[in-house]
Amino acid sequence: MCGIIGIVGKEAVSDRLVDGLKRMEYRGYDSAGVCTVHDGQLVRRRAEGKLANLVQVLKSDDAPGNIGIAHTRWATHGAPTTSNAHPHATQEVALVHNGIIENFKQLRDELTARGRTFESETDTEVVAHLVSEQVEAGHSPADAVKTVLPRLRGAFALAIAFRQFPDFLIGARLGSPLVVGYGDGETYLGSDALALAPLTQQIAYLEEGDWVVIAREGAQIFDKDNNPVEREITTSGVSAASIEKGNYRHYMQKEIFEQPTVVAQTLSSYIRPLEQTVALPQMDFDLAGVKRITIVACGTSYYAGMVAKYWFETFARVPVDIDVASEFRYRDPVLEEGGLALFISQSGETADTLAALRHCKEHGQTIAVVVNVPTSSMAREADLLLPTHAGPEIGVASTKAFTCQLAVLAALAAHLALVKGKLSAEQEREIVRHLIEAPAALNAALAHDEDIAAMAHLIAPARDVLYLGRGPDYPLAMEGALKLKEISYIHAEGYASGEMKHGPIALIDEAVPVIVLAPSGPLFEKTVSNMQEVRARGGKVVLISDAEGIEEAGEGCLATIEMPSVHPLIAPLVYAVPVQLLAYHVACAKGTDVDQPRNLAKSVTVE
Ligand code: G6P
Repeated sequence: MCGIIGIVGKEAVSDRLVDGLKRMEYRGYDSAGVCTVHDGQLVRRRAEGKLANLVQVLKSDDAPGNIGIAHTRWATHGAPTTSNAHPHATQEVALVHNGIIENFKQLRDELTARGRTFESETDTEVVAHLVSEQVEAGHSPADAVKTVLPRLRGAFALAIAFRQFPDFLIGARLGSPLVVGYGDGETYLGSDALALAPLTQQIAYLEEGDWVVIAREGAQIFDKDNNPVEREITTSGVSAASIEKGNYRHYMQKEIFEQPTVVAQTLSSYIRPLEQTVALPQMDFDLAGVKRITIVACGTSYYAGMVAKYWFETFARVPVDIDVASEFRYRDPVLEEGGLALFISQSGETADTLAALRHCKEHGQTIAVVVNVPTSSMAREADLLLPTHAGPEIGVASTKAFTCQLAVLAALAAHLALVKGKLSAEQEREIVRHLIEAPAALNAALAHDEDIAAMAHLIAPARDVLYLGRGPDYPLAMEGALKLKEISYIHAEGYASGEMKHGPIALIDEAVPVIVLAPSGPLFEKTVSNMQEVRARGGKVVLISDAEGIEEAGEGCLATIEMPSVHPLIAPLVYAVPVQLLAYHVACAKGTDVDQPRNLAKSVTVE
């Protein structure tokens, strides 16, 4: 995580650096800092906490200069204090870093033994000293970087400024993303195209091990063996406007309300509405031959994967293993030759998921990726790229990316079932018809926003909340609990409703609201029985169901939230809305920071 940006500009850079950081604050907001090169000096300004604090510092103490680097931090090594804030600097060198230098302890001991002193507890500062030593010994900045990079273990994206060289910056990447932006007589470095959106749309994505010298007139890129290389310059689709909040109070709220549009947008690339068939991108492997699917993801994307497991198994009768990415490699999974490994990620950069992807690649799996950032590392390493078209998601708690992931996964499951002969053409058409209804059903779900806002005060005082669901609504219960804990800081757990009686029921009393997700259908009666077990013990239930379900079981509930009646296939998309809105309104009622909840970051590029 962390966001980095660098500008070699024609005019003052400090405001533009801060503006870039603003667009990357979703990557972390523990501290922020800038460093410019001006009049033969490194001018460094840093502040702990949100970017607004740095803006205050710069108001009274500007950082002049036409070249500079900047950083927004998600703390790994060292508390979120000003002294641990990037840029880290010596007399000669200042740098910003996203990633973790795993061998920093050894390097730090070595540097300390040579008499270097450190002012922070970070892993990053060793890199500043290593590069500085080389520069102080008279080596050129490029030679210094060339010497130091092979010494670093772990993951890094770096942007480095040099006191005596006001005309260029050096960047490098391994494991963490870094892009080069090409402007009009200016050149940029950034963690992603989003950071550079108002500056340029002309972007080159560095490959693993690349390093680059950026100057006003352009960039010289070198690969890990120090050979000069060209990396394709593409036009990024990200516009500055797509990341505005509009009339919404929070990005998360805007993103929840965008769901009908972005799900429709996503579906339009996966279905042919006239023929009512699924259309997947061209693939050069035999999908019909897939015998097993391994799904790996983190957080909300993992819950999308859990829903998809039901679909792949029910429709296509293909067995599915699913893991959270941080656990996957360490259980030494059995990966048979010819298996399909499916990775789901909003950012396409989550370090654990990316490491799992590479593990599967090494073990002969075909790699399919459902990802929202089509230029991300995961997208570029996929055999089958299945993009979601949710647009930039800024709120740290994922919402619209989730429903778009579900839309793609449903289409993939239907297609797999078709090519495996488990679904007739007529059944495929039926599935497509239901998918086409999803945007309207999402709209109908959003129409309950005010009801949900009105009942948020019932949940806001709780210390613990339980979410229950069965079948594909079980992952939704977990997603609901995750949303609530992420942004309202209320402890919440999602359980399979039948599992309640094996433990969590002991927690039930009047102070623990239980949110039950139960669309009417084959599993409804059983979930309602579990709900009654809660009520019999004095528990307060919020039932989320359709009109029929509420009619049948709503009496005596603390509250009910009515959803449109939908086919079970699209129910997980639709039921995502009330759990997102509930978490959102509870967080608003509690006055927490909805878009930037404490301790979290959106793009987790460390393991
Ligand atoms: C972080 C975010 C979550 C997200 C998860 C996976 O924890 O806060 O919202 O679901 O990472 O991210 P990815 O980009 O891989 O979907």
